[in-house]
Amino acid sequence: MKNNSITASITAVGKFLPSKKLTNFDLEKMVDTNDEWIRSRTGIEERRIVEKGQASSYMSVNAFKNLQKNYNINSDEIDVIIVATVTPDMLFPSTACIIQDQISAKNAFAFDLSGACSGFLFALDTATRFIESGKYKKVLVFGVDTMSSVVDYTDRNTCILFGDGAGVVLVEPSKDENGIIDSELKTDGSGAKYLMMKAGGSLHPATHETVENKEHFGYQDGATVYKYAVKGMADISKEVSDRNNLTSQTIDLFIPHQANKRIIDSAAKRLGIPNEKVLININKYANTTAGTIPIALTEAVEQKMLKKGDNVILSSFGAGFTWGAIYLKWGIS
Ligand code: COA
Repeated sequence: MKNNSITASITAVGKFLPSKKLTNFDLEKMVDTNDEWIRSRTGIEERRIVEKGQASSYMSVNAFKNLQKNYNINSDEIDVIIVATVTPDMLFPSTACIIQDQISAKNAFAFDLSGACSGFLFALDTATRFIESGKYKKVLVFGVDTMSSVVDYTDRNTCILFGDGAGVVLVEPSKDENGIIDSELKTDGSGAKYLMMKAGGSLHPATHETVENKEHFGYQDGATVYKYAVKGMADISKEVSDRNNLTSQTIDLFIPHQANKRIIDSAAKRLGIPNEKVLININKYANTTAGTIPIALTEAVEQKMLKKGDNVILSSFGAGFTWGAIYLKWGIS
């Protein structure tokens, strides 16, 4: 819990989704699957996919432009840029460096953070510490993934689940009591083998063999991930809400990572909150990995689902395993 005189708060949000849609019906023509199976097992109807030549920096820069349209922020004022992603444009330099250049944030230092589906929450918590230190005043946090670059569109177990997208938030010192109040982040690396991309790193650099073996695509043991995700996300959301004396009545909005509607429903049930207090957009975008929560936050603002002082729980589970929850009092009127 907070014991610092400075409170960090989200003061601006933005998102970008590519315009190209890949529907369940499109996937029916690519693999042995069907719309009914995908919708009933996952809640997904369609997902967005970048065009060739577009990647995580492209989507992030556009998400920032979307933020700038609605909020008055000059790139020169930004102190830090954190980019949560597992699909950087390239291994190095970081995608954050490319974004820093493209948005002309001349005074910012920038780095990527790899936390898979929990990447945005890990990055938001990191940004909170930067703000609470008193040294930094404006931190941009991106959550972005170009999952189409690592998905095997001949594997029905995984290709139905993912999409591309980016979201961004600006974190600043709060001018009132609203802001990021509490967080709990977890890792259990023994789960690494259940959800991973085997090759392309230092252990298995790219070779003809790794390409032939399809080791540059994401692999997952879906049933095991599902089991851990249901428990992980529900437990941590409940832990953070109980610790802050929140109840189903006082939680105004639950924004979970969008991996599977059934996982979201279990977590919401555990919190005892009704559907109208749960933000769900997995039907439109599928799992955009680090992108889901900042995209959902932006949609919550666009749809006027949030008002100043609202109690919001963000929650995630992903590869690693990594998981977490953040409690914030919404700071934008
Ligand atoms: N279309 C049709 N059938 C499919 C299919 C598809 N796209 N994908 C798998 N199947 C088949 C399986 O092969 C299996 O067939 P079998 O019984 O003959 O072997 C059957 O459907 C049931 O598979 P199962 O794994 O039991 O389905 P499920 O209800 O667990 O749903 C997932 C599968 C992947 C949707 C689910 O396990 C899941 O969401 N896992 C977590 C994924 C996730 O969140 N990943 C990211 C982490 S953040």
